[in-house]
Amino acid sequence: MTRIFSGVKPTGHLTLGNYLGAVRQWAEVDQHRADALFCVVDLHALTVEHDPGRVRRLSRHAVTLLLAAGLDPGRCTVFVQSHVDEHARLSYLLECVATDGEMRRMIQYKEKVARERARGSSVRLSLLTYPALMAADILAYGADEVPVGDDQRQHVELTRDLAVRFNQRYGHTFVMPRATYPVVAARVMDLQEPTSKMGKSHDSVAGIVYLLDEPDVVRKKIMRAVTDSGQEVAYDPESKPGVSNLLEILAACVGGEPGKLSGAYTSYGALKKDTADAVVELLRPLQYRHRELIADPACLEGVLRDGAEKARGMARPTVDAAYRAIGLLPPP
Ligand code: TYM
Repeated sequence: MTRIFSGVKPTGHLTLGNYLGAVRQWAEVDQHRADALFCVVDLHALTVEHDPGRVRRLSRHAVTLLLAAGLDPGRCTVFVQSHVDEHARLSYLLECVATDGEMRRMIQYKEKVARERARGSSVRLSLLTYPALMAADILAYGADEVPVGDDQRQHVELTRDLAVRFNQRYGHTFVMPRATYPVVAARVMDLQEPTSKMGKSHDSVAGIVYLLDEPDVVRKKIMRAVTDSGQEVAYDPESKPGVSNLLEILAACVGGEPGKLSGAYTSYGALKKDTADAVVELLRPLQYRHRELIADPACLEGVLRDGAEKARGMARPTVDAAYRAIGLLPPP
């Protein structure tokens, strides 16, 4: 059976970008067709300046939202990364296979270094080695597929390079994973800055729709989205990034292709209104389930306990095999 692994980082409240780019696919498709693991990758949240209490809160929040989005622990494994030691154990081995140069070439590394410096923070070494930990997440489980948004493309490519290199040098140990992307909305853009990705840890929230935003907040943010010069509603991400982003979001919500949907509109206002309505409807059931789940915190603890146990059992044999293959003495 196909094995799927993916994850989300608890560095902010989850956004419409996370949902359309990844989580919706996990809930609606992936957990039904494969042996799937979905992880809140809290170790990754420590790679930039963080507040311990906030990371703990956001980790719980992320797990609750994944369940509210429809992940069913009876069908898939939902867990928190730091509960399974194998991620950190394997990450170190992959750091011994990766080069400093390939880590420094990562676009996200360069962007985050710039952001940390602009905030006056120092750059943590773990930000550089982040892709080795992400590769460990994927390779520890022998994942065949990694459903992600477009921004993770380079990281999954590097994971594949590390897997090939390890297997060639030390003997076949890892399954070769491949990234999969949603057909539309693989890169949802910020509503105020439609040439940048909608990211959960951006400083300005006006361009970000959070999954728990109240309907009137969602409407306001979408109605105030930056659009482009001219009047014509056309799908052209290069010359009309704002309108094209709205068309992608609308297409992801109601089905269809952004280019075809554009023909139905003669004004930006009507497009914004329909997009806002569609997003409010899309989020309604998730928000309803979220209210139910937070009323039952014991349920979350049970999910995390079972998830960690299942995940450990799956990761340990591969990571132990990697330890032996690379030349480490088995424990006495
Ligand atoms: P993270 O937490 O930034 O995002 C989680 C998932 O949401 C997708 N995504 C988006 N998709 C479309 N439009 C957007 N604006 C948008 N923003 C985020 C991301 O592509 C991702 O699929 N490094 C990863 C977490 C990670 C991981 C892994 C993922 C760690 N280990 C192993 C897969 C496999 C990250 O920062 O995702």
